[in-house]
Amino acid sequence: MVIYELLNELEKAIQNSDNPHFEAELIIMSALKIDRAKYLISKNDTVSDDTINQAMKMAKRRQLGEPLGYILGNAEFMGMEFLLNSDILIPRPDTECLVEFVINRIGDKKLSVLDIGTGSGCIGISIAKFCKNTDVTVLDISKNALDTAMENAKNNGVRIDCICADILNSDIGKKFDVIVSNPPYIKTDVIKTLQTEVKDFEPMRALDGGRDGLIFYRRICDILPQILNNGGMVAFEIGYDERCAVEELLKQTGMFKNIGSQKDLAGNDRVVYGM
Ligand SMILES: C[S@@+](CC[C@H](N)C(=O)[O-])C[C@H]1O[C@@H](n2cnc3c(N)ncnc32)[C@H](O)[C@@H]1O
Repeated sequence: MVIYELLNELEKAIQNSDNPHFEAELIIMSALKIDRAKYLISKNDTVSDDTINQAMKMAKRRQLGEPLGYILGNAEFMGMEFLLNSDILIPRPDTECLVEFVINRIGDKKLSVLDIGTGSGCIGISIAKFCKNTDVTVLDISKNALDTAMENAKNNGVRIDCICADILNSDIGKKFDVIVSNPPYIKTDVIKTLQTEVKDFEPMRALDGGRDGLIFYRRICDILPQILNNGGMVAFEIGYDERCAVEELLKQTGMFKNIGSQKDLAGNDRVVYGM
């Protein structure tokens, strides 16, 4: 079998996925450990039985609803590659709105940044990459996620510090100029209604924002006086219906002159900030 024949087989096997052709290409590149440039000039090359078996196994997992990011073991975010494991939420394009917002505000200023609930490290690492004068610390409750975040930082050529802590129950003992967070923000009752890819495969700990979805925003706002320097900025990713509630929490801190929000490319409220 040659590569383009395998491509056809894979496309048939995952025909119910979002984009069978694109996903089949990614599976082939992963099974062959080649990049897109090499893939494009190799479509008539013969593939070994081992590669075919490996690619078909990956397609089978995809067919059963597993997100491609976990099957490939990585995902792209802000033009960089991030390794994933089952304790890590797959970075979403929506989160790039939050990162772009923060990067634009920081520019080349020399600031300390704390990314709360870092997962793959995608937010903190992107800030460290694009804002060279920042000093970035990432925090997560999952040691397994933090180990991968540190590996992702190294692979993407940035240095970050990490803190393994439960933000709901611990003191950080340090202040930062910028707090950024995409915390778990889905209401507990809503999780069971989400698509299989999310509710059956992504870590529950990365999704569950408690009964009203706001438990992490409430806690972070409560401890802002202990973790945010005077004149600092906080920026959160939020669920599409959480803008008013999160803006109100920021108002109640009394720490910000300017509180506002940004929409994502689909027109949904996605970022709430205070500065
Ligand atoms: C929505 S995910 C965001 C991951 C990543 N920042 C992103 O944007 O793709 C939330 C993260 O918060 C972490 N988390 C959940 N509960 C936590 C807690 N009590 N303390 C610290 N981190 C927590 C999860 O492990 C997960 O990595």
